[in-house]
Amino acid sequence: MRIDILTVLPEMIEGALNCSILKRAQEKGLAEIYLHNLRDYSTDKWRRVDDYPFGGEAGMVMQIEPIDRAISALKEERTYDEVIFTSPDGERFDQPMANRLSMLGNLILLCGHYKGIDYRIREHLITKEISIGDYVLTGGELAAAVIADAVVRLLPGAIGDEQSALSDSFQDGLLAPPVYTRPAEYKGWKVPDILLSGHTLKIEEWRLQQAQERTARLRPDLLSD
Ligand code: ADE
Repeated sequence: MRIDILTVLPEMIEGALNCSILKRAQEKGLAEIYLHNLRDYSTDKWRRVDDYPFGGEAGMVMQIEPIDRAISALKEERTYDEVIFTSPDGERFDQPMANRLSMLGNLILLCGHYKGIDYRIREHLITKEISIGDYVLTGGELAAAVIADAVVRLLPGAIGDEQSALSDSFQDGLLAPPVYTRPAEYKGWKVPDILLSGHTLKIEEWRLQQAQERTARLRPDLLSD
């Protein structure tokens, strides 16, 4: 899979892409992720990519031209399954959406700035708008990093234990059950006996029951869905 991220602040995303599982997924050739600075597509001698809004509102608006030039340059090289704009007004990002995106080939993620992007970009160039939650960030960069992380870790081979992505919270509509590691007792706090019993089937039953109990207690909305 290939993800091209268009942003005015590549340095805000760079660290997140070059650590841990995302770094390894790229090294293994499972994912290619490229950061593109929108200023490189500006025709302005100061490399500006925003301007004052028509109608005299407060704040600056990202211009259509650098964004159109950047998207067109990418589309000349390959076809894209989605051109995604990160915005608080978008469709809410969740695990099923991450699963669907992970099955696509090429994605563009355009990092937006709330109230700050020429609306024609959204009308003519964007195929999907995604919000990572009902709150407003300073820009779409952290949202793009969240989306890239959630999607790339699902690629086959990205996580060492293939099973573990499937047993994540939300994958079966339930929160994940608790996990423990050595020591079996610490300061008198014990790991549940069942996990030390060696009864695979009973352990699976316990895990499911724990997942159901935690979901009912912490996220009852997931069960009513
Ligand atoms: N940009 C600003 N806030 C955002 C959010 N909640 N989700 C996605 N992009 C954003």
